[in-house]
Amino acid sequence: MKFFHSCLVLFLCLQLASITTSEVQFLYLGFTGTNLSLDDTATVTSNGLLQVTNGTINRKGHAFHPTPLHFRTPSNGMVQSFSVTFVFGIRSSYLSMSRQGLAFVVAPSKNFSDALPNQYLGLTNMVKNNKTTNHFLAIELDTVENMEFNDIDSNHVGIDINGLNSIQSHSVGYYDDMNGSFHKMSLNSGEAMQVWLEYCGESKQINVTMGSLEMEKPVRPLISTTYDLSTVIQESAYVGFSASTDEIDTRHCVLGWSFSMNRPAQKINISKLPKLPRNSPKPQSKLLDIILPIATASFIIVLGAAIILLIKRKWRYAELKEYWEVEFGPHRLSYKDLYHATEGFHDKYLLGAGGFGKVYKGVLQSSRQEIAVKRVSHESRQGIKEFICEVVSIGHIRHRNLVQLLGYCRRKGELLLVYDYMSNGSLDKYLYCVEGRRTLNWEQRFHIIKGIASGLLYLHEKWEKVVIHRDIKASNVLIDSEMNGHLGDFGLARLYDHGTDLQTTHVVGTMGYIAPELLLTGKASPLTDVFAFGTFLLEVVCGQRPVNHKTEDGQAILADWVLEHWRKDLLTKTVDMRLRGNYNVDEASLVLKLGLLCSHPFTNVRPNMQQVMLYLDYELPLPELTHVDMSFSMLSLMQDEGFDPYTLLSSSCATTSEVSGGR
Ligand SMILES: Nc1ncnc2c1ncn2[C@@H]1O[C@H](COP(=O)(O)OP(=O)(O)OP(=O)(O)O)[C@@H](O)[C@H]1O
Ligand SMILES: *[C@@H]1O[C@H](CO)[C@@H](O)[C@H](O)[C@H]1NC(C)=O
Ligand SMILES: *[C@@H]1O[C@H](CO)[C@@H](O)[C@H](O)[C@H]1NC(C)=O
Ligand SMILES: *[C@@H]1O[C@H](CO)[C@@H](O)[C@H](O)[C@H]1NC(C)=O
Ligand SMILES: *[C@@H]1O[C@H](CO)[C@@H](O)[C@H](O)[C@H]1NC(C)=O
Ligand SMILES: *[C@@H]1O[C@H](CO)[C@@H](O)[C@H](O)[C@H]1NC(C)=O
Ligand SMILES: *[C@@H]1O[C@H](CO)[C@@H](O)[C@H](O)[C@H]1NC(C)=O
Ligand SMILES: *[C@@H]1O[C@H](CO)[C@@H](O)[C@H](O)[C@H]1NC(C)=O
Ligand SMILES: [Mg+2]
Repeated sequence: MKFFHSCLVLFLCLQLASITTSEVQFLYLGFTGTNLSLDDTATVTSNGLLQVTNGTINRKGHAFHPTPLHFRTPSNGMVQSFSVTFVFGIRSSYLSMSRQGLAFVVAPSKNFSDALPNQYLGLTNMVKNNKTTNHFLAIELDTVENMEFNDIDSNHVGIDINGLNSIQSHSVGYYDDMNGSFHKMSLNSGEAMQVWLEYCGESKQINVTMGSLEMEKPVRPLISTTYDLSTVIQESAYVGFSASTDEIDTRHCVLGWSFSMNRPAQKINISKLPKLPRNSPKPQSKLLDIILPIATASFIIVLGAAIILLIKRKWRYAELKEYWEVEFGPHRLSYKDLYHATEGFHDKYLLGAGGFGKVYKGVLQSSRQEIAVKRVSHESRQGIKEFICEVVSIGHIRHRNLVQLLGYCRRKGELLLVYDYMSNGSLDKYLYCVEGRRTLNWEQRFHIIKGIASGLLYLHEKWEKVVIHRDIKASNVLIDSEMNGHLGDFGLARLYDHGTDLQTTHVVGTMGYIAPELLLTGKASPLTDVFAFGTFLLEVVCGQRPVNHKTEDGQAILADWVLEHWRKDLLTKTVDMRLRGNYNVDEASLVLKLGLLCSHPFTNVRPNMQQVMLYLDYELPLPELTHVDMSFSMLSLMQDEGFDPYTLLSSSCATTSEVSGGR
């Protein structure tokens, strides 16, 4: 009954007006081929959609019907009835994050160049807002609650007269025709919606109604107010749309629009409207809804695993390379190759461990060459650069009695030195083996002694620089498949030998091989090598460790023990029992005497390696020991110098140990 009544009133209203004025009406179903006046961001897309804003931020746009309309009745000059319907949609690239708004406008001019975007919706600015000279009516669809304009919420429709302070507004939605309850709609849902605006020139009533796209116009308007638009709208006025954006790339779109003066606006056939652009591609089916996230998740997991594996692999083979190492390029081996050569430094390839680290056997995959890899750990020692320079330059040395350095590799905290593999291992294993195991006969021992002497002579005198070995001992003499001796590990002791600080002068070497003056001054020289070589000679002939060896008469130091036998003229008694008397007495006593001479505490008594070679080759007669001062004893000498021999000797002396030397 109420519905019928309202229709009748409207009909009468419009009928009355139509008698006196001409009827103006238009209908846009999409905007292709139309002559709309567009400015700023307003565009008509190829499918006919009117984008009043095109997604550019902080911009405004306007679209007007090209010609002005006559709003007043010539007879009484009052604004006549009119009716508007339009379909719009607001979209942004972020779903439900669309911002600012769109307004239907009736205005005296199409020129809104001085209006502002953002909260001004392209309608006015702070100076002109609410000025009666504006002469505009706007129906705003606003997504922002603006305190400045007393907005009710962030999803409202409002009637604006001359400014943005709506004379009346309401949350977006509609009143249900059946039970009258309010049904909320959301402007930034991205859905197309319809708006109906009616003004009755007689009653001065303005009705604004909204609904979803498919709906018939609801009976109950959302906003109904009375306002005499004759005080606002001028005789000739333009109709159109204004919209603005802020920081979000929103598009305010109009799909269809109909306008009628003095009669109800034509219905918009929604099947003929252009489509709104998609926010994001909709999943094709429920199945995809399930499969897609699972597929994405598994893809990410697989990708992550692959990346972790890759990083792990890179980390496993990571090396440290610095600019100064460029010159050693050819000597550098890749960690990956060494890793594969030793099957990841497997324990079954462990050859032994010394004072500097573990030694592994390996086979280079490229050349099938057998190698020994020594892993030396260094905790960012300052001298590492000099050390590597030295080790690598020494690596250039080639001599048949020196273990060849093939290359090196450096990683964080460790240095890998790669040597020729010596198939018969180190000499100490033959000298101190348990009874009954294979030992070396005299010829082999003498051959090795001469070999090591010639290797050491090369280091001292024949190479371009004087190289001090610093760690001559039986375990650093390696034996190849043809029982030749090779001196190894030269220069390595250098790594621990950076004690320039007087307080912490460290002497590195192996007990029993350290010359007394080295303990005192901490300064290595070729003659300290000769001292160690002397001990080595005694070791090879006697088959005894240089210190702590078990003898009946309780001598702790091998040199003292041999010396005592020499004094008693029983020198040959010191020769290794394991030889069972099968040795050349002449050569053995020569080596023993030479050993004593080389291990002499006074440096001026010791021969140099040149002389040692001549003595061993019988090209120079050995000086008679009686002519040199042989009245020393290592033990008493060390005690005289203030060393406590018992603490020194009690430590395991067969391995390299750091000995702090006092001054
Ligand atoms: N090039 C090599 N070929 C075969 N075996 C080797 C090689 N280098 C070392 N070894 C073996 O590895 C063991 C450990 O060597 P390493 O040099 O680390 O200890 P060391 O000689 O006992 O003491 P130092 O640290 O004073 O040299 C040696 O005893 C030897 O058996
Ligand atoms: C506005 O809506 C009311 C309520 O439905 C109705 O009575 C009135 O006629 C409407 N006015 C116009 C101009 O449509
Ligand atoms: C658009 O305007 C041009 C002239 O300005 C006119 O020729 C044309 O017919 C108009 N088109 C429409 C659809 O009004
Ligand atoms: C939107 O319109 C403005 C002004 O015409 C233009 O500079 C901009 O390139 C347009 N942006 C897009 C995405 O079309
Ligand atoms: C629009 O109005 C401004 C002043 O508000 C004026 O400077 C400008 O020239 C006008 N533009 C047009 C196209 O009339
Ligand atoms: C707008 O202006 C009118 C008078 O022109 C005044 O009554 C009204 O309070 C103003 N509104 C605001 C929000 O300033
Ligand atoms: C009114 O009807 C609509 C369906 O037409 C329904 O969704 C809504 O819940 C109803 N409201 C009330 C209060 O009954
Ligand atoms: C809307 O348009 C379609 C296709 O042009 C037509 O089939 C349909 O009858 C129209 N609907 C109305 C209500 O006019
Ligand atoms: Mg060694």
